[in-house]
Amino acid sequence: MVALTLLLLCCGVGGAAANNHYKVIIVGAGMSGISAGKTLSDAGIHNMLILEATNRIGGRVNKTTFAKLSVELGANWVEGVGGKETNPIWTMVKELNLQTYLSNFDNLTSNTYKQKGGLYKKSDAKKIYDEVDKVYKFSEELSKNLTKEKLEDISVLTAQRISQHVPTSPLEMAVDYFHNDYEFAEPPRVTSLKNTQPLPTFENFGDKNYFVADSRGFESVVHYVAQQYLTTNKIGDISDKRLLLNKTVIKLNYSESGVTVETEDNTKYTADYVMISVSIGVLQTNLIKFEPDLPEWKILAMYKFDMAVYTKIFLKFPSKFWPGGDGTEFFVYAHEKRGYYTMWQHLERIYHDSYVLLVTVTDDESRRIEQQSDSETKEEIMAVLRHMFGNEIPNATDIYVPRWWSNKFYKGSFSNWPIGVSKHEFEQIRAPVERVYFTGEHTSEHYNGYLHGAYLAGLYPFSPHTFLLPV
Ligand SMILES: Cc1cc2nc3c(=O)[nH]c(=O)nc-3n(C[C@H](O)[C@H](O)[C@H](O)COP(=O)(O)OP(=O)(O)OC[C@H]3O[C@@H](n4cnc5c(N)ncnc54)[C@H](O)[C@@H]3O)c2cc1C
Ligand SMILES: *[C@@H]1O[C@H](CO)[C@@H](O)[C@H](O)[C@H]1NC(C)=O
Ligand SMILES: *[C@@H]1O[C@H](CO)[C@@H](O)[C@H](O)[C@H]1NC(C)=O
Ligand SMILES: *[C@@H]1O[C@H](CO)[C@@H](O)[C@H](O)[C@H]1NC(C)=O
Ligand SMILES: *[C@@H]1O[C@H](CO)[C@@H](O)[C@H](O)[C@H]1NC(C)=O
Ligand SMILES: *[C@@H]1O[C@H](CO)[C@@H](O)[C@H](O)[C@H]1NC(C)=O
Ligand SMILES: *[C@@H]1O[C@H](CO)[C@@H](O)[C@H](O)[C@H]1NC(C)=O
Repeated sequence: MVALTLLLLCCGVGGAAANNHYKVIIVGAGMSGISAGKTLSDAGIHNMLILEATNRIGGRVNKTTFAKLSVELGANWVEGVGGKETNPIWTMVKELNLQTYLSNFDNLTSNTYKQKGGLYKKSDAKKIYDEVDKVYKFSEELSKNLTKEKLEDISVLTAQRISQHVPTSPLEMAVDYFHNDYEFAEPPRVTSLKNTQPLPTFENFGDKNYFVADSRGFESVVHYVAQQYLTTNKIGDISDKRLLLNKTVIKLNYSESGVTVETEDNTKYTADYVMISVSIGVLQTNLIKFEPDLPEWKILAMYKFDMAVYTKIFLKFPSKFWPGGDGTEFFVYAHEKRGYYTMWQHLERIYHDSYVLLVTVTDDESRRIEQQSDSETKEEIMAVLRHMFGNEIPNATDIYVPRWWSNKFYKGSFSNWPIGVSKHEFEQIRAPVERVYFTGEHTSEHYNGYLHGAYLAGLYPFSPHTFLLPV
């Protein structure tokens, strides 16, 4: 709270903006920017401006209509429910009464398909799933030991090697993909063991995940926070003049006395402070030019972190050809190429007779698929489905492939903590540079990558932790 006091002392409180001058400019109106605005507002700082590049708030929480259904292109699950602490997003979801479904993966052992078709025998599959569970427990213990003994970080893959269980067969790779990539969107070779096992999200908030399927969209939670301090019109849309949409920040001039922010349409705004909430992927590009350049320690830390890519592909069919009923919602496809259309979900439980499938790809596969046409992707997927369900199945009639990586306002889906980034460097990613402050999911102390991380990062943007000095 040191800096917050500083903000209050040095510059007074509130007041209307004159000549485009603000106390604080927030760049980006995703969950984190909106949450940071609420923090300022709660502290009595009302003279703020939020600049958002796209024509909506919500950022990486976004829905679209596909096959007449509302589907989520970005965040979809409240991850971490049922534990010793309450996930703040879960509280909002309950408050808004959004429709949710508990995701149960227990029956994957009966729903794992071979590369050329046919299910693995439940007992064979169970052996591998159980083994991967055991390796996970071993890795968690190893991670705690490393921390206790002040030893350096290792990758999740290194832990697998030590446990003598490096996945090799298609089945082992598929189960490994489910446990790791399906959560972190990067393979075990990349992911830091010490900083992901045990994972604070599941440790603190619980191990249950709820899938949000509501026509109002998961983005309702972002509006819920926004409406606590931004004025809305009669139909509930935000009409507050302190939120400007279609405003892409391209330049940020900062000094000891203040900041100047320039948008693509050549407008300049000045402020005492700026709070940047764009993704770490965007920070790693030149979309926003800093003048002077950010210091070397900041650049090194920022560019070391990973922006992962997680792609949810939706497909519509004229009829259903996959098993339905309890315990069939999720299924797995094992292939010699790790991560080749591995994780599947049917939406029958949520939208009856919708005939919609969701298949998830990540990392290199995501980047490859973003660069090819949707019809090529559809053909690859149909070939996979024909292996699983036979040659008689009908072609998909529609496909939606989100492109978070190609989008210059995101450059991926969420951050992942890679091997080789220390806690100190992580603090440096969050640390302010003079009057330039940073928020966003990648700055969350315990929950980077998640929607609750974005929210909590905005609630404590001025925590003393952000003031650790560079080495
Ligand atoms: C496919 C996918 C699946 C996910 N699944 C889950 C999940 O199931 N559960 C979960 O908890 N989390 C999930 N996440 C992560 C979650 O969505 C994010 O952590 C969170 O929404 C990030 O919020 P943020 O405010 O930090 O960033 P953002 O939402 O990216 O907000 C930043 C804002 O800045 C804007 N912006 C960018 N550049 C500029 C500029 N130059 N000028 C002005 N504005 C700019 C952007 O348009 C954006 O609105 C998922 C994300 C994706 C993409
Ligand atoms: C933003 O731009 C879109 C078109 O790109 C337009 O439809 C919308 O009205 C604009 N919104 C604002 C607030 O300027
Ligand atoms: C958000 O969803 C809308 C459709 O509902 C789409 O037009 C837009 O491109 C999406 N934004 C992103 C970043 O995917
Ligand atoms: C962790 O440390 C304990 C105590 O030194 C030891 O018994 C245990 O085998 C270690 N576990 C792993 C996975 O290294
Ligand atoms: C940026 O700031 C520096 C120093 O404060 C100043 O010399 C320079 O003219 C500014 N540039 C712009 C584009 O405002
Ligand atoms: C598990 O899946 C199989 C195959 O889809 C299904 O037949 C079975 O009923 C499911 N079992 C449970 C407990 O849900
Ligand atoms: C599916 O589409 C392909 C072309 O993409 C076509 O060759 C094939 O005949 C179609 N199959 C069915 C069953 O309609």
